[in-house]
Amino acid sequence: GLNPKLKKTVVLVGMMGAGKSAVGRALASALDVPFRDSDTEIETAANMTIAEIFARDGEAFFRRKETQVIERLLDSRPAVLSTGGGAYMAEENRRMITEKGVAVWLDADLRVLWSRVRHRDSRPLLQTSDPLATLTEIYERRVPIYAQADLAVKSEQGLSVEGMARKVIET
Ligand code: S3P
Repeated sequence: GLNPKLKKTVVLVGMMGAGKSAVGRALASALDVPFRDSDTEIETAANMTIAEIFARDGEAFFRRKETQVIERLLDSRPAVLSTGGGAYMAEENRRMITEKGVAVWLDADLRVLWSRVRHRDSRPLLQTSDPLATLTEIYERRVPIYAQADLAVKSEQGLSVEGMARKVIET
């Protein structure tokens, strides 16, 4: 479980559509610590959307920014930090997160993930001719790595964002 007197940053990891931002916000409010979101930090600093950054500067550039932002946020005071779905894939990021934070995997079924991302075009990795097949591929590749997180919390049908935040605290 998560100690309410938080000494380490809680880092939410997991797939696109797992609810990292919404649950992260509720969790931060329940724990009374600041909420941070690595994608938002990158967008604000660049004054561009994630899609624009991918299109203009490429994914490798985005990943470098992501590592820098995560490092900076892990070095500030304890908070809840939501990361982009790919952030936990980089060995360097996993090492930093393990060292300075607590990694929490928000685990949701592929069906749930798809229902949440299918009508949004803000995710450059899903701009393919068959986005469901792409999401499935990414999911299968990443699950074994997300499973290395300190804590795994499964999202259940019908559970609210606040309910999910409570489950994270109680797990
Ligand atoms: C990505 C997920 C996105 C964003 C970028 C890449 C990924 O964040 O960082 O589009 O690699 O899964 P969300 O998980 O918030 O959608």
